[in-house]
Amino acid sequence: MATPGIQVQITEAEYKLLQTLVYQECGMYFDERRAHFLQDRLQRRLKICGLETFYSYYRLLTSYQGKQELSALVENLTVNETSFFRNKPQLDLFQKKILEDLLRHKQERRDWTLRLWSAGCSTGQEAYTIAMLVCDALAYYYLRNPLPFDMPTPKPLIPPPWKVEILASDINYSVLRAAQEGIYSENQMEAVDYAYRLRYFDKNSVGYAVKSSLKELVHFDFHNLKTEFLPQRNDVIFCRNVMIYFDEAEQKRLIEKFHRCLNPEGYLFIGHAESLFGLSDQYRMIHENNGTAYQRLEVTV
Ligand SMILES: C[S@@+](CC[C@H](N)C(=O)[O-])C[C@H]1O[C@@H](n2cnc3c(N)ncnc32)[C@H](O)[C@@H]1O
Repeated sequence: MATPGIQVQITEAEYKLLQTLVYQECGMYFDERRAHFLQDRLQRRLKICGLETFYSYYRLLTSYQGKQELSALVENLTVNETSFFRNKPQLDLFQKKILEDLLRHKQERRDWTLRLWSAGCSTGQEAYTIAMLVCDALAYYYLRNPLPFDMPTPKPLIPPPWKVEILASDINYSVLRAAQEGIYSENQMEAVDYAYRLRYFDKNSVGYAVKSSLKELVHFDFHNLKTEFLPQRNDVIFCRNVMIYFDEAEQKRLIEKFHRCLNPEGYLFIGHAESLFGLSDQYRMIHENNGTAYQRLEVTV
């Protein structure tokens, strides 16, 4: 048994083994700048498991019985910082230009489905923000282009015949549970203005609860972006502030996978500090009023 309070020394070889294992499992790469963070989390997990060496911890993680511990370690390594309406200029570009174009083109083709994916959704604020923006964009669209029939009452958030599916996924089960619950504190609601709060939230003793009509549009699920089996046929993918934790090789692989996961001419949104420059030439960059998006280019052979 490990002695409580005493730090177990990690050897260079043990560190390399565990660093590689984490990378292979989820794509997160801990270079020298982030080595301290990884070592700190490994120390904690070693203590919780009551093991004496990091090599025995590595053996546990790579065994069949260690699957649950591997998930727990990965959960401890993820950074889950997020907020509602994060990166406003980019969301304006999404709502005012890209959604408008998508709705118009789809309507012309009589395709009434819209599929959006928040990949690396953390506690759900990004997915619910997307849902609110889509609902408002559709309402505004029909204000200018009325439906050829009367809208059913009570007015649904998504006017028929449209079908909107928002998938929100993460590798961390704890954040997915919080996202599914959809209750946010006053602090977390800071960027949500008065009008949005009124329309899409109910205030209760714990905080602000996402209204069930909005919740129904979002489906939360576990997906590890490191794997090949990712959700297909998306019109828009948001994968913001996730790739920064991957190395360049993994970022390139992910961007290629997203190309396959998007519908032709679909759109990819990445974080403010992220760029596809040097990673891929399969996308066209759109930059307007400080907001950036990438549109899938059709590869000609
Ligand atoms: C900093 S948060 C970003 C949340 C949100 N996209 C935003 O920009 O506000 C990064 C999220 O990516 C998730 N993540 C990290 N690696 C992942 C992987 N391999 N597969 C799926 N999600 C991952 C983390 O669990 C975390 O919740």
